Amino acid sequence: MCGIVGYVGENEATPILIEGLRRLEYRGYDSAGIAVKDDDTVIVKEKGRIDNLQTCADKVNPKGAVGIGHTRWATHGVPDQINAHPHKSMNGIVTLVHNGIIENYMELKNDLITKGYEFKSETDTEVIAQVYDSLFDGDALGTLIKTAERLKGSYAVAILVKGYDDKVYAMKKDSPLIVGKGNKENYLASDIPAILPYTRDCYIVNDDEFIEISKNHIKVFNKDANEKEVNIQTINLSIDAAEKGGYDYFMAKEIFEQPKAVRDTVSPLIKDGKIQLPFEFPEHFIKNLKRIYIVACGSAFHVGVTAKYIIEDTVRVPVMVDIASEFRYRNPIIGKGDLCIFVSQSGETADTLASLREAKARGAFTMSIVNVLFSSIARESDGVIYTNAGTEIAVATTKAFSAQLAVAYVLSAYMAHEKGLISDNGLKEFTDEVLQLPEKIKTALDCDNITKSLSKHIATKEHMFFIGRGIDYPLCLEGALKLKEISYIHCEGYGAGELKHGTISLIENGTVVVAIATDDALYGKMISNIKEVHARGAYVIAVVKEGTEGIEEMANEVIYIPTSSRYLMPSLTVIPLQLLAYHTTVQRGLDVDKPRNLAKSVTVE
Ligand code: AGP
Repeated sequence: MCGIVGYVGENEATPILIEGLRRLEYRGYDSAGIAVKDDDTVIVKEKGRIDNLQTCADKVNPKGAVGIGHTRWATHGVPDQINAHPHKSMNGIVTLVHNGIIENYMELKNDLITKGYEFKSETDTEVIAQVYDSLFDGDALGTLIKTAERLKGSYAVAILVKGYDDKVYAMKKDSPLIVGKGNKENYLASDIPAILPYTRDCYIVNDDEFIEISKNHIKVFNKDANEKEVNIQTINLSIDAAEKGGYDYFMAKEIFEQPKAVRDTVSPLIKDGKIQLPFEFPEHFIKNLKRIYIVACGSAFHVGVTAKYIIEDTVRVPVMVDIASEFRYRNPIIGKGDLCIFVSQSGETADTLASLREAKARGAFTMSIVNVLFSSIARESDGVIYTNAGTEIAVATTKAFSAQLAVAYVLSAYMAHEKGLISDNGLKEFTDEVLQLPEKIKTALDCDNITKSLSKHIATKEHMFFIGRGIDYPLCLEGALKLKEISYIHCEGYGAGELKHGTISLIENGTVVVAIATDDALYGKMISNIKEVHARGAYVIAVVKEGTEGIEEMANEVIYIPTSSRYLMPSLTVIPLQLLAYHTTVQRGLDVDKPRNLAKSVTVE
């Protein structure tokens, strides 16, 4: 996700735009820029943090009281000065900043190239500017509406239009956009923190609305160019609270951003029931594939274990899953024809990066599932699939984890189809189910209240267990990690069938055991395991699919989650586990976002 700002008033726009971008840096910071209406439209943009932009702006010193700005979380095109926003169209008609993902940008770009348009950047944003330019008929607003009709994907866009020197126009779909109402000045921003220093009177822009602001007015139009009422509301949030979207912590905000993170990740990969990977495997590579390694750390490793269950059952190829710090030193048996998959939110984890280099040196085909565009792991892989989860601030990963899971599902289905193990119809059915996940995750988030209630009891404990079987087992590992890394309660994730081989001796009266039982094929076995621990005094919190009957008799508490097909359940199961960890940590009065001893990216061995 990126941050956009706009200003029209009587003061110099440059300092207001840059200050606004500083307050949105948590949305992305690999490059930044502003455009100010001077005699012409002056663009100042630079790679890196806002300070770099400030240095450039001090030199150029653009004058003017109308402008737009952008701080970038790259999704298309390396994070450099050329790809930084704003982007000006070839004929200089429009200058534009954008937050979101245009899914059909290549199709539009190719069409514009045939019409003689030349592009400077690799971004989808520049395509929006050129589309506008190609449609411009002198009507700034009408052209914006026509441009929107051609875009597929998510966007919040702010534009300066040649000949409209006292106005900024904007539009949005699926990405946030807010208008701030001032006195002889008005503002645009992706998020409230950028506006709060100037005004608390805001208009929250809705999808498919088009905005025109001058210093004296705010106008809202629908897609028929009919003016709509502007309902100004007063925002009573501190700036800090606003940066967190009104949540107390970034982790909470990111937990509730998961429907969008998953949607933004899978939508570009699935078209009309078919899967389009953003890179190509060598010819016949998947058909002849005999061995897969998945290498990662922490939560990313748990994605690998989950993927193992899915890939081995559907693609029928052995999958070895390793924690990177072990893989790189155990002289793995890897060679040409093997596939090595590296999973990493940051794309900079030292052990994972070193393992990637080890696998490449041994001739394997390397691909990665990464959240940070053009990070080291992404750049050095033979192929990369990005999770478009946006910046993840909290040390405990949530939305990136869910996005990684979604990529694992799509990749598994792609390989099974390539090997002729699922039909076109089977692929369509599966991808349809994947596309339904964002809504189901949204429903799963309804367990927020029960997890908050249960956290009061859990917060009094020093030890806890998560048990499960089959596809639920790796989620036990993730649930345990989430809880222990931020609440400091010692937790263990265990195969439910393994407990009786020693660890069950630790179960005593009142020991909290989270029992995950969503795998129908193993439900009966899970019931036996739940009875085993319950009989020894455990306080059992069961996580089961909605509609599961009879579990109440042997569990102290039951959390019901929406149903999906067996191998998509991890995306729903993980939600209560994340919320249990979050609320328990809050109950314990600890810093949810910045747990002791940890860093967001472990770039050392
Ligand atoms: C996740 O909650 C942890 N903070 C940690 O285990 C993390 O998943 C691990 O360090 C891997 O990081 P990466 O995904 O950036 O490689």
